[in-house]
Amino acid sequence: MLDYDLEKIIKSRKSIRSYIEKPLSKKDKDLINSWIDEIDFDNSIFNKKFNVKLLEVGIDAKNLGTYGVIKGAQNFLCITAKKEEGVMESIGFNFEKIILNSTANDLGTVWLAGTFKREQFKNLLDVKEDEIFPIVCPIGYASEKRNLKNNFFRKIAKSDKRKDFNEILFKEDFNTPLDINKIEEYKFPLEMFRLAPSSANRQLWKIIYKDNCFHFYRIINSKNNDGLEIERLDIGIALCHFDLAIKEKNLSGEFVKIDFIKTNNDKNLKYIISYKIK
Ligand SMILES: Cc1cc2nc3c(=O)[nH]c(=O)nc-3n(C[C@H](O)[C@H](O)[C@H](O)COP(=O)(O)O)c2cc1C
Repeated sequence: MLDYDLEKIIKSRKSIRSYIEKPLSKKDKDLINSWIDEIDFDNSIFNKKFNVKLLEVGIDAKNLGTYGVIKGAQNFLCITAKKEEGVMESIGFNFEKIILNSTANDLGTVWLAGTFKREQFKNLLDVKEDEIFPIVCPIGYASEKRNLKNNFFRKIAKSDKRKDFNEILFKEDFNTPLDINKIEEYKFPLEMFRLAPSSANRQLWKIIYKDNCFHFYRIINSKNNDGLEIERLDIGIALCHFDLAIKEKNLSGEFVKIDFIKTNNDKNLKYIISYKIK
């Protein structure tokens, strides 16, 4: 059971790039560390393990490289993991719960996959040879201070908007949009999915409703050449919203991997998982 109103928190969360220049209180640090300890990999649909470390950088913060995008943050959550299939989706899915808990506790956050200097942060962590270091997430008290880079980012990424359902939700095949009002019971989880944040707000995902299942796909981003495939995180985040919403509404169904599903011969899509309605 969540101890917050999911819809309110998902709708009120937004990326915070300006922070009050003070470290987190001990109470908040303990709270955040308890959320990290509570990540329940064994009962998660994406169960690949990863590490989260809460760093305090104090006065060094100004010199830490976020290309001036982040102002004032003194604490950062840093994620490292063994490089293995499915770990990026797992980070998206399981870490988003920490983001939502933070929002519910008045703590600002923003996923950073691009605008931080990995090597500088790596010096503060113990990143092993075979590990990836995909995400840094400042966490702290939001400031109202003007942040021109934030305003620029939000404008370029159209951060206040999301794709309409007719671009992401289909029935039977990818040519036939599904009217969300025809599946009243699942309107809420699908809406929570749709509102998920994503890297550069790209929302690289599609859903097909077929045979009483929702089949989730991610759109392959051919421009992505850093080898990390950030959109794997994005689909994990969106599925976290979907799963939490299903649980909140006590809907009965289950996540299944359907092996025979290919991508309808569309090379640009990668099948992720299905949700079978019971
Ligand atoms: C996986 C991921 C990576 C992101 N990386 C960055 C980043 O490197 N720099 C940045 O300023 N914002 C980053 N963002 C924030 C997105 O730009 C933001 O979530 C999106 O524009 C929607 O805005 P909102 O979070 O305020 O709803 C990232 C978001 C996600 C989910």
